[in-house]
Amino acid sequence: MNAPAISTAALALFALAGSATAQIGNSYCSANANSTGGPSVISATGSTDVALNDVTLSCTSLPLNAFGYFVTSQTQAFIPGPGGSSGNLCIGGSIGRYAGNIVSSGSTGAVSLTIDVTALPAPTGSYAALPGDTVNFQFWHRDATGGQVTSNFSPGLELSFDSAAPTFEQDVWPMLTQPNTNAPECIICHGSFGGLNMGTTAASAYAALVNVASTSFNCQGSIYVVPGDVQSSLLYDKLANPTPSCGSQMPFGGTFAGDVNVIRDWIAAGAAF
Ligand code: HEC
Repeated sequence: MNAPAISTAALALFALAGSATAQIGNSYCSANANSTGGPSVISATGSTDVALNDVTLSCTSLPLNAFGYFVTSQTQAFIPGPGGSSGNLCIGGSIGRYAGNIVSSGSTGAVSLTIDVTALPAPTGSYAALPGDTVNFQFWHRDATGGQVTSNFSPGLELSFDSAAPTFEQDVWPMLTQPNTNAPECIICHGSFGGLNMGTTAASAYAALVNVASTSFNCQGSIYVVPGDVQSSLLYDKLANPTPSCGSQMPFGGTFAGDVNVIRDWIAAGAAF
């Protein structure tokens, strides 16, 4: 009796490992029942990381052989029965249509569409989703109730796009302002005086580090952060190496409480703010 249980567990692990099938996004806004007797269901799989450009939209529980297309906007709304439809429009503002990608729900009552997140439709042409953008999607489809031709909508689906690459404000700055082991925060020693002075805000610290050369006696001429070049960046050298090219390893007298690999990845990915 144990053998089938083991293979089921192995299959479950295999399914978890397949990130391409990861569910993303949140459904919002209520849908009315279509001619199947219940509302349709919208979902998305793939990744919200814009760099991976991997999003597939799906809609299920649709009437069979119904034609329709996905619509999208950055604005959410609630407009019952637009243009005589039996459904609710859950997006507003600048609405883009995947009118060139009309799909049929076929014999399963389901549709899916792999979209290009670098070319989302909008009334004035297409645009690329950026990290921080929230984009909403809905499926519009034809339907017939009691011999009357009508249309209906799925619920809305909200996708919040992000980027896997660390950014200064979100990922690096919090590490420079947290206490270290046996040493205070970096900015206690580097926030108001001599040598490296990062000030007290993420913006002032970024301005003091990126493409800026040291003027200190020790490290004069070395650039704190060279975007895309980890090995030439003094900040990484002083954090990662027990014997850096100049002076002591940081934090002075203690151990870094942050993750030096995040600093490395941030620099390697171009040191974005
Ligand atoms: C207790 C005070 C103190 C703390 C905390 C501290 N530093 Fe320093 N830091 C110094 C001193 C003193 C120097 C100059 C001597 C040296 O380079 O070893 C320095 C030098 C540096 C330099 C080279 C500056 C230059 O232009 O020469 C960098 C980069 C640096 N620290 C980064 C950091 C980072 C990042 C942290 C937090 C992880 C940190 N430091 C925490 C005292 C500190």
